[in-house]
Amino acid sequence: MESLFAAAGIAFLLLLNAAGAESRRCHCDDDDDNGGGGRGGVDSSDQSPKLFVFGDSFADAGNTLKGPLGLNTRGWYEPCGVSDARHGNKPTGRCSDGMVQSDFLASILGHKEAPPAERMRRHDDVDLSAGVNFADSGAGVLLGWNLDTQIDVFRRLLRHKIIDKKDLSQSVALVAISAGVDYSDVPSDPADLDQYILNVTDGIVDGVRQLQDLGVNDVLVNLLPSIGCTPWNTRAYNYTQCARDTITGAHNKNLKHKLGDDESVLLLDLDTVFKGIVTPKTEKLFYHRHTPCCESVDKEGFCGQLDGDGNQQYTVCDGPDDYFYWDNTNPTQAGWKAVMEQLEGSIKDFLGI
Ligand SMILES: *[C@@H]1O[C@H](CO)[C@@H](O)[C@H](O)[C@H]1NC(C)=O
Ligand SMILES: *[C@@H]1O[C@H](CO)[C@@H](O)[C@H](O)[C@H]1NC(C)=O
Repeated sequence: MESLFAAAGIAFLLLLNAAGAESRRCHCDDDDDNGGGGRGGVDSSDQSPKLFVFGDSFADAGNTLKGPLGLNTRGWYEPCGVSDARHGNKPTGRCSDGMVQSDFLASILGHKEAPPAERMRRHDDVDLSAGVNFADSGAGVLLGWNLDTQIDVFRRLLRHKIIDKKDLSQSVALVAISAGVDYSDVPSDPADLDQYILNVTDGIVDGVRQLQDLGVNDVLVNLLPSIGCTPWNTRAYNYTQCARDTITGAHNKNLKHKLGDDESVLLLDLDTVFKGIVTPKTEKLFYHRHTPCCESVDKEGFCGQLDGDGNQQYTVCDGPDDYFYWDNTNPTQAGWKAVMEQLEGSIKDFLGI
């Protein structure tokens, strides 16, 4: 009885993590054959390792098509980008007030910001010498413009020599399937839930293996930060405490088990780092650790949402730097900076830079 009840509670909680999968647009603009090929080829003279980014809103720096305002396109609309001085404080498709994880990782590798979005690469002025970003807000393993599909696009760019295969020996990939999109709706039966989590983590492992088979040298893989501590779930407690969560631990355990011993893989423990910031034992890095800067009026709504008359259906804080979370899932720019500062040492050690 008790365990069934608990499981039902979890299913309910995590439903709030909703978001997930709005229907995705079609990436039909294949470049099979001709066209596109010559332009924007990867320049192998660059010294910093090339970065290829796969994943969700933690890493999407403008790859999601700028469609009508919606959950997955919110990065293209205000108030996203308000703190982003580098881009004129305008939205750039990033689900944050500014830079996201892929930007801070790029800067650790010696680049200016995240590599350009794959979707932009046919534009004349796009330089792919730093790498390519395939990540897409709303992506999971099983949902959205998912990891497999993103890797298929990568494979196609290799086949058409838009990315030079020999560059991959000095390349780094980030696999950032960690905003919890796959867990927006989960089976309530505990055995099915375990299998579901295994399916998700097996999908991540399979993605890593595909990247390795294609010749990528080093792969950084995000562990899942605690789903129970996201504003989606802490809102029910007026942003005072994390919700109980049986998914995050199992997800991360599976990944550690399958990838922990692989010397060409570094697991980025976002769970430990986020927890240390959100529920600090000692030093408090942020005044607002649970409450998001940008909060939808409706708990099922999203940051940036407008009603039919164009009225804001959200509130936004004055000082995003004092908040760890930007919206109900994603950290602020200051949040990402703090997270990546804590991971920088281990990333550099791992890459030998
Ligand atoms: C896990 O994946 C298998 C194989 O694709 C599928 O048949 C099964 O329904 C999935 N299980 C759950 C609980 O999602
Ligand atoms: C949250 O705050 C509201 C309004 O102050 C209050 O009515 C509600 O009981 C609080 N809920 C919890 C779980 O603390």
